[in-house]
Parts: sequence; structure tokens; C-alpha cells
Amino acid sequence: METKIVLGENQIPTHWYNIIPDMPGPLAPVLHPGTGKPVTPDDLLPLFPMGLIEQEMSPERWIKIPDPVRDAYRQWRPTPLYRARRLEAALKTPAKIYYKYEGVSPAGSHKPNTAVPQAYYNKLAGTKRIASETGAGQWGSSIAMACQMFGLECTVYMVRVSYEQKPYRKSMMQLWGAKVFASPSKETNAGRGILAKDPKSQGSLGIAISEAVEDAATHEDTRYSLGSVLNHVCLHQTVIGLEAKEQLKLAGDYPDVVIGCHGGGSNFAGIAFPFVADKAAGKNVRVVAIEPTSCPTLTKGVYAFDYGDTAKMAPIAKMYTLGHDFMPPGIHAGGLRYHGASPLVSQLVNAGVVEARAAPQLACFEAAVQFARTELIIPAPESSHAIRGAIDEALQAKQEGKEKVILFNLSGHGHVDMTAYDDYFAGKLDDFEYPAEKVKESLAHLPKVAV
Ligand SMILES: Cc1ncc(COP(=O)(O)O)c(C=O)c1O
Repeated sequence: METKIVLGENQIPTHWYNIIPDMPGPLAPVLHPGTGKPVTPDDLLPLFPMGLIEQEMSPERWIKIPDPVRDAYRQWRPTPLYRARRLEAALKTPAKIYYKYEGVSPAGSHKPNTAVPQAYYNKLAGTKRIASETGAGQWGSSIAMACQMFGLECTVYMVRVSYEQKPYRKSMMQLWGAKVFASPSKETNAGRGILAKDPKSQGSLGIAISEAVEDAATHEDTRYSLGSVLNHVCLHQTVIGLEAKEQLKLAGDYPDVVIGCHGGGSNFAGIAFPFVADKAAGKNVRVVAIEPTSCPTLTKGVYAFDYGDTAKMAPIAKMYTLGHDFMPPGIHAGGLRYHGASPLVSQLVNAGVVEARAAPQLACFEAAVQFARTELIIPAPESSHAIRGAIDEALQAKQEGKEKVILFNLSGHGHVDMTAYDDYFAGKLDDFEYPAEKVKESLAHLPKVAV
């Protein structure tokens, strides 16, 4: 009985799985923020290279992973699938718990799975510099690393609260050659506008996205890159679920439930979409996304058209949203502080294919500590939401006396998040349920669209 189920480098997937042809119904159009009309590939060209725009809209079920990208993946892929024997024993559960560990990438999370192809397609298109945003710094460090691999310059706007909470992520980005600004910054009109209204703004992903989009749109040689939400990002992350499926086959198991934490939706999509395909084909598998109660996009937001960013410069997409000017509290799971969600994940939640749940911060840290004291890996605060979900499923299995198979994605390690653990042990963290009136206030500002 193995603890770690590992694949060889020649078993890195050769294709990404594109869920678009298997979605329940057609996709809603993505709208231009200025005209409100459906965007065309040409509208997106100032922001993204054509290789990625094609993937955003592709009807092909399988998309070949270019050789240079697959070669780069070899640096850390395939990632191990662990059987959580020690956690199972501590919980005294009859459930089998498996977790896919994405923290073995050089940047420490799943984010390089898409940073590498994004840098690659930009290099092919002649881009010189990439501008991007980051919440907790996981994405920023991943795009900085990928730009380093393909010889691109990189500018990252980092949400101020994380810039201050997680200085080592900034150091990592700088080590890999990126320039990092705390957002809101004085570098862009969007940042200056926010600072004029609120000089002490802690920032948000929505604001940082506005800054990076403005930077890319106003510099000919620069394109924008997003670490989550978009269809092509979810596509790239499917290497996680595709590998996990092969690894579970080797273990002789198939999951009853697949769990991922949810910020913008990409690591959840990565682990879940290959199983959603099985579900669509009649398999009995549940897929569950777990988000923080302080930023409850899928569980308290509305399924509506909204801007992807605060300054209304990014395209308008139909998704679950808390409103583009929603300002989440500065929780430690910085990567889960986004007002919107992947349109693909949103459509699946709305259609009842994906279940969504919210978990409070303290219960997530409690789960992370139990995990670190049994499985020994220190999880990222974001990933602790998936652990909470998996432990709850395992405890329920114990109550029901069922031998359930649980698979979850451990999206990253928490080595650079130790202040979060210190604060937890010092009793400095609170639970925060975002007030319904506040959500209502933000939702009043949704764009009026004609579709
Ligand atoms: C470790 C980790 N997990 C999860 C997330 C959430 O992002 P997504 O929902 O796109 O996977 C982040 C975002 O920064 C992250 O760093």
C-alpha cells in the first residue's frame, strides 16, 4: 500500500482537457466593457496573444500541450498523489482520503501550470513584458518564474494587504526578475484614483487587475496575464485532474467526491473538470467547491454579468459575483479574495453540477493544523479550505459508517504564509461572515446589459 502514487515524466498529459464542448448549454457571451457588445478576438488582442484567445473560445475537447511547455512541466510534474493515511487514522474514518499535491512546483502552488503556457504563447507572439496582478503572491511568483523561463520582463501589482503580510512572496518575484508594486499604486490612473478616495486602501484583486490591465493596454510591447477565472487558465490547470485520474487508477480507486478551494476557480477547475466530464457521461461523482465565508462569491453572490475588475476596464462576463467594487476583509487566504468567479465554474454551479460551500477562517486553520500535524505538509491558507471540506466529508462518512473515497486538491504549501499561522496561534484571527447588506450594496452597481 503506497502513500505516494507517482507517475513518470513520460506520463505528463499530452493534451489539456477543454470542458467547453461538454458544458450543460451554450456559454454566455463575454462583453466589451466600453460598448457592452460581445467581444471579438480582435478586441482581446491588446491584452492577450492569439494562441490564448483561441483557447479561450475553442470548441475542441482536447488541446495539445506544446512540446516546450510539456518540457517545462517536467521540472515539477507529474505531481504526487498522496493517500492521507495519517490523517485518516487521526480522524478514525472509514473514508479513504487522497490529495493531489501541487505545492511541489518551484513557486509552491498550482499556478505555474498556467503561468508557463501563458509566458510561452506570449513569447511566440513577440510580447516583451507581461503585466499582471497578484493576491497572496502565489500567482505573481509563478508568472515571474515563467517569464524568467522564457526571457520576458514582468511587472506585478500586488494587493497591498498581502504585500505587507507576505514580504517573502515579493522577494521571490524579485529574485525571478519581476518588478513589484503594492496595489493600489501610484503607477496607474486606476491606482491613483483609488488612493485619492482612500489613501489607506488595503487593495483588492479587482483593483490590482485594473492596474495590470491599464498597464498592458497603454504599452505596445506589454500584454496582460491573469492567474485564474478565464477559460484558458482553467484549461491549463486540467493537468491536475488528468494526472490524478491516472494515479487513482493505479490505486484501484475512483472518487465519490472531488473537492477544491475556490478563489477565481482555477485549481478547482483543474482537479474537478476531468471528473465533471465523467459525471456528464453518467458517473456518480460529486464535485464540491469551498470558498471563505468572508468572500462568499458562489454561495451569496448573484449569477449575473459583471466587470472582472474594479475600474471597469476588464471584459464583462456572466459569473457569480459579489459586485466589482466589493471589498473583502484582509483574510490570510489572500488568493480567495476575488469578487467574481470563473464563468465555467459559475455555469456549472448554476446548473447544479457543482456544489458550492463556504467555510469560516478559523475552522479552515483548525483543519490546516490537523493536516500539518498528521500529514506533515504545511498547507497554504487557501488550500486549507479544501482540507476543511475533505475532513468534513470524512467525518460524515464516519458517522454514516461508509467507506467513501475523497479526493481533494492541496493547491499549495504555506511556507511563505507563516505569519498567518502565527496570528492563528496568537488568537489574532476572527471569523467574518460578509454582511448581506454589504453584498446588496455592491450588487446595486452591476452593469446593465442588453443580452
Ligand atoms: C495556493 C492557492 N490555492 C488557491 C488559490 C485560489 O485561486 P484559484 O481559485 O484560481 O485556484 C490561490 C490563489 O492565489 C492560491 O495561491
